[in-house]
Amino acid sequence: MARAWLVVLAAAATLALGFVFANAAPPATDSPSVAAFREVAKVLNHPRCMNCHTTVAWPTQGDDRHRHTFNIMRGPDGGGPQGMRCTTCHQDKNQDSMNIPGAKNWHMAPLSMGWTNLSPAALCKALRDPAKNGGRSGGKVIEHLRADGLVLWAWTPGGKRKAPDVPHAAFLAAAETWIKKGAECPQQ
Ligand code: HEC
Ligand code: HEC
Repeated sequence: MARAWLVVLAAAATLALGFVFANAAPPATDSPSVAAFREVAKVLNHPRCMNCHTTVAWPTQGDDRHRHTFNIMRGPDGGGPQGMRCTTCHQDKNQDSMNIPGAKNWHMAPLSMGWTNLSPAALCKALRDPAKNGGRSGGKVIEHLRADGLVLWAWTPGGKRKAPDVPHAAFLAAAETWIKKGAECPQQ
């Protein structure tokens, strides 16, 4: 009797697990390139990146991406208007004693590289479009993701800030796979 119950329980558990995994898996229609892009997008959508890649006239802060305090504006070159340059406060390194994040040449990405609220498809297309991405070929995008100081800062953001869940090496590998397999974009 007890044995029969065990069998029933085991069967139920297997079903439940199958259900969970089936729902966690990406849609079956994803090509290897698109699947890799979804991994890349997890990082692009992270607040550490998005706070500089906004589609508005100011940078944002924190995991909730609230507007930067002190009415900081992007200014003509993303480095803030004259008299309120980003580098007045943001130094070449994090200054944890004052809770100010920092990395060399701290400034915002231009509006053409703004990603706020883009769908996965739009984000993907923006990333591979030389008219939007600063004239970068696939290889140049990878190089930027591999070595740019502002990109790397996201994994050592200082203070209590959280880094993206995907480690930098895994992120880079996913970006390489995405491009090598055709830089395909999701349907939506
Ligand atoms: C402190 C601000 C800042 C942060 C933080 C930041 N970026 Fe950027 N990003 C920039 C600036 C400025 C440029 C433009 C650089 C250029 O074209 O020379 C840029 C350009 C890019 C580009 C190339 C253009 C494009 O649209 O393809 C990519 C890719 C990119 N960033 C990815 C990231 C990722 C991924 C993160 C987070 C892991 C990140 N950035 C975090 C400021 C930032
Ligand atoms: C008056 C000083 C000051 C100026 C000028 C300034 N910042 Fe900041 N910034 C700060 C401080 C302080 C923080 C940390 C706030 C916190 O974490 O609560 C911060 C945080 C940020 C963050 C948030 C990082 C994160 O992921 O949470 C970004 C992005 C940022 N600043 C970009 C800029 C840009 C771009 C400029 C210029 C256009 C700029 N800041 C100008 C003081 C300044």
